[in-house]
Amino acid sequence: MSDNTRAFAATWSAPVPESERLDIAAFYEHVWRRRPMVWRGCGADFLSPPLDWERVAEVERLPVRELGAAEARLSPDRTVLFVNQAQHAVPELDAACLALAEEFGWEECTADLSVTREQGAGIGCHFDHSDNFVVQQQGSKSWRVGLPSDTAPRRQRARMLEAKGFVPSGTLPPEVPQVRLEPGDVLYLPLFAPHEGVESASEEGSISVSFSCNARSALGSWMGPLMRRLSLEPEWWGPVPLDGPDPGRLSAALHRAFEDVLGQAGSRDGGDRAPVPTARPDTSPPPPAPTAD
Ligand SMILES: [Fe+2]
Repeated sequence: MSDNTRAFAATWSAPVPESERLDIAAFYEHVWRRRPMVWRGCGADFLSPPLDWERVAEVERLPVRELGAAEARLSPDRTVLFVNQAQHAVPELDAACLALAEEFGWEECTADLSVTREQGAGIGCHFDHSDNFVVQQQGSKSWRVGLPSDTAPRRQRARMLEAKGFVPSGTLPPEVPQVRLEPGDVLYLPLFAPHEGVESASEEGSISVSFSCNARSALGSWMGPLMRRLSLEPEWWGPVPLDGPDPGRLSAALHRAFEDVLGQAGSRDGGDRAPVPTARPDTSPPPPAPTAD
């Protein structure tokens, strides 16, 4: 075991690391896509004021036509309300998403609203193709959180490619850390890390908001533009000679198109927003974890 791996193992055998101050640069350097993290009392850095029960009741009364692109799902026993893409229906969440995207250097931020009204209620164990920041608004919620490496690469791939019919259920290791969030606390859930949150106490119910930075693959981002650019290259749009294509000319045209597409992406990303080099995918060795599914 390398020193680097040993350091991760030591970190993960302890409870989920906590802090009382959000330091974005340090977060990207040490935490991003590696392991969960809790910030106690930092909820106002994400959303202020917090959503209260009155505001949630207003959202629940919204007619479907006013939900826009948001999608509300109520469990059959009415104990769990989950509003996917809630920023489309709740203006204060939309404003928070814009501010967070700017602050963290993301292309886009979305928000899901989760409301439970029974102890133990939740949406079940799963993993996402996004990095999530769960901000507890009212009541309390207990979380069990794994690591990205707890989700097998083939399942990560299926999620990123949005394979038809794939269900992103999660598998947690037996000794998984647990953490309880109180109002104002924030929990970071890394991309692909399985997680499950349930309401801690039934008297009050729980309201939480999950802000997400959705992961994009190179295939999803560049394949379409690359195909369109290649359609301008005679070697690619023209009829292939009977004696076969010229691999050298095809390859040269492919490289030209590739450079063009990446160049345009670079100039688009380099607009008003400062680059966030630390937001690149973490390539250091992942912490060890039991093999999952
Ligand atoms: Fe999730």
